[in-house]
Amino acid sequence: MPTFEIGEQDFLLDERPVQLVSGALHYFRVHPDQWADRIRKARLMGLNTIETYVAWNFHAPDPGTFHLDGRHDLGRFLDLVAAEGMHAIVRPGPYICAEWDNGGLPAWLFADGAAGVRRHDPGFLAAIGTYYAQILPVVAERQVTRGGPVLMVQVENEYGAYPGVPAEERARYLRELVDLTRAQGIDVPLFTSDQADDEHLSRGGLPELHKTANFGSRSLERLAVLRRHQPTGPLMCMEFWDGWFDSWGLIHHTTAPETTAQDLDDLLGAGASANLYMFHGGTNLGLTNGANDKGTYLPITTSYDYDAPLSEHGAPTPKYHALKAVIGKHAPVPDEDPTEPAPAPELEVTLPDRVTLADAEHLLAGTTTRTSGLPPTADALRQWTGFVLYRTQVEADDAVVVVDEVRDRALVALDGEPVGVLDRTSHTASVPLPRRAGTLTLLVEDRGRVNYGSRIGEPKGLVGPVRTARRELTAWDATPLRLADAPTRLAAAFAPAPAAAPLAGPSFHRGEFTAHAGTDHLLRLDGWTRGLVWVNGELLGRYSAQTPTRTLYVPGPYLRDGANELVVLELHGAAAARARFVATPDLGPTEA
Ligand code: GLA
Repeated sequence: MPTFEIGEQDFLLDERPVQLVSGALHYFRVHPDQWADRIRKARLMGLNTIETYVAWNFHAPDPGTFHLDGRHDLGRFLDLVAAEGMHAIVRPGPYICAEWDNGGLPAWLFADGAAGVRRHDPGFLAAIGTYYAQILPVVAERQVTRGGPVLMVQVENEYGAYPGVPAEERARYLRELVDLTRAQGIDVPLFTSDQADDEHLSRGGLPELHKTANFGSRSLERLAVLRRHQPTGPLMCMEFWDGWFDSWGLIHHTTAPETTAQDLDDLLGAGASANLYMFHGGTNLGLTNGANDKGTYLPITTSYDYDAPLSEHGAPTPKYHALKAVIGKHAPVPDEDPTEPAPAPELEVTLPDRVTLADAEHLLAGTTTRTSGLPPTADALRQWTGFVLYRTQVEADDAVVVVDEVRDRALVALDGEPVGVLDRTSHTASVPLPRRAGTLTLLVEDRGRVNYGSRIGEPKGLVGPVRTARRELTAWDATPLRLADAPTRLAAAFAPAPAAAPLAGPSFHRGEFTAHAGTDHLLRLDGWTRGLVWVNGELLGRYSAQTPTRTLYVPGPYLRDGANELVVLELHGAAAARARFVATPDLGPTEA
C-alpha cells in the first residue's frame, strides 16, 4: 500500500518528495451533482489535491441525527476526488470556522450548558467522540494507506486564535483530539493550522503535530515565521487566502489576480506546499452561513463566491488563468482549460399567489412555550436556526420595548402592524410603541451563529429581560417557525392576491417559471427588502436589499423541465411581486 509521510524536508509520497498544490472545495457548499465538475476544474487548473472541511452540524442538525447520504455523502465526494486522480486533505474540526454557522459546532451541544466550547471538557469531548465515530470511518477507509486519496487530517482549526483557555488545558484538549482521531483508524499524518504569527503558532499546536500556517500575502515573510515554529519538514500554507468572504452591509471583497499570483509564485518557488482557500467557494445554501462579531455583528452573505479562481457558478475567472500560469511554472499543468458556462437564462417571473405570515402561522408553528419571567431563548425552544415568534401583551403607557440582547434581528409589531426593528448589527435595542394596548409580537431571526472567537456557542433569540417604559415584560408565548419546508407546508394556503394589494410583509409569495432541468439560474430580487427564497422547495438562502450581493445562485440541479416554483418570504415589503433571472452574477460593489 502507498505511504504518505512528513519527511525531514518534504512531504513523502511513497518515499518520494511531493509538493502539494491543493485547493479548498467544501462539499457542503456545492450541490452533489456538481461535485465532479468542480473537482475536474480543479485538476485542469493544475491542482493535485482537494482539501475540504467537514461541518459537524451539517451532518448532525439535531441531537441523535447523523446524515451521510446525498449532499452529506463525504465518502462519495472523496471517491470523486480519487477518480480524478487527485489527493485529498480532510479537516474534520470539530470546529472549522469557515464562515459556517457556529463554526460547524452543533448548537444543540451547548443548549443546556452541558458542554464547554473547544475545551478539555467531558461533555464536549464525549460528543466529539461520537461525532468522530460517525464521520472518521468514512475518511479512514479512504486513506492513502488503504489505497484511497486522503493524505493528511487536520486537528482543530486555528486553535491558537481561540481565547481564554489556559496553556496546559489547550495541550490536553488537542492531545485528546489526537487520541480520539487515532482511535478511529486514522493513521496518516495529523497537522494543525494557525495564522502565521508567533502568538497563534505557539498557542495552536502540539510539538508532536506538524504545523502549517494560514495567510494570503507576504508569502516569504510568513514562511519564515512558520519555520520558527516548525523547524523541520515541509512548509505548507494550509489556507492561502486568494480571496475573501462577504458580509451583509459591506462591499464585495476582491483581490487582484496579479497580486495573488505573485504571492503564490513566491510560495511555490520557495518549495512550500499550498492549499488555495478557496479554489471554489460555493454557496451558503439554506440557513448555513456564519457571522463575525468583533464588536459589530456581521452575518456572512448567502454567496460564498470568495472571489475564488472558480466562481460560485463554476466559471473560470481571470484569477483561475493567472494561478494556473503560476502553477505551470513549477509543475506540469493540463493543456485543457474548462469551458465557460453558458449565460444563465434571462426571464421575468411574476409571483401572483400570496399568503401572509399571520394567516400561515398555524401551518408553520412548532410547539408554543409559555413562560413567566424571561422570554426563552431560541435554543431553549430547541430551535437551532431560523425564526422564533414571541408574543406578549402591552398597555397604552408601556411606550417603548427595550431588549437586553436580540440575536439577531426582530420585526416588532403591535396587533400585526409593524412598528420597528430591533437589530444587533446596528445595536438598536429599543423601539417606540404606539400609545395603545395590544398584542406585541417580535419575529426574531437568527441570522447565523458566530463562527470565530469567544461568541461561538452562544444562544439565539431574545436573550435577557425585555422592558417597557414602566415594567419588565414577563408573560411570553414563544413559537419556533418551521420554515425550511415552508413551500410544502403552505401549498394549499396560497391564493391569488388582488392586483392592487400592496406587497407588505411579512408574507409569502409564489410564482411559476419555465426552465430546463439542470440549468443554472441567477435570481435578482430588485425592489424587495429582505427575506428568504426557495426554488422548487429548496431553501436557497437569504436575500437583502443591503450590499453587497445582488444575485442569488440557483444550482441547475434544483431546476426541472417545464414548470418550476419560486417562493419568497418577504419580511418588510416589495415594490412589485416580480423577480428576474439574469444572465450573469452581480456580487455587488467592490472597493475599487
Ligand atoms: C481562517 C479559518 C477559515 C476561514 C478563513 C477566512 O483562516 O481557518 O476557516 O474562516 O479564516 O475565510
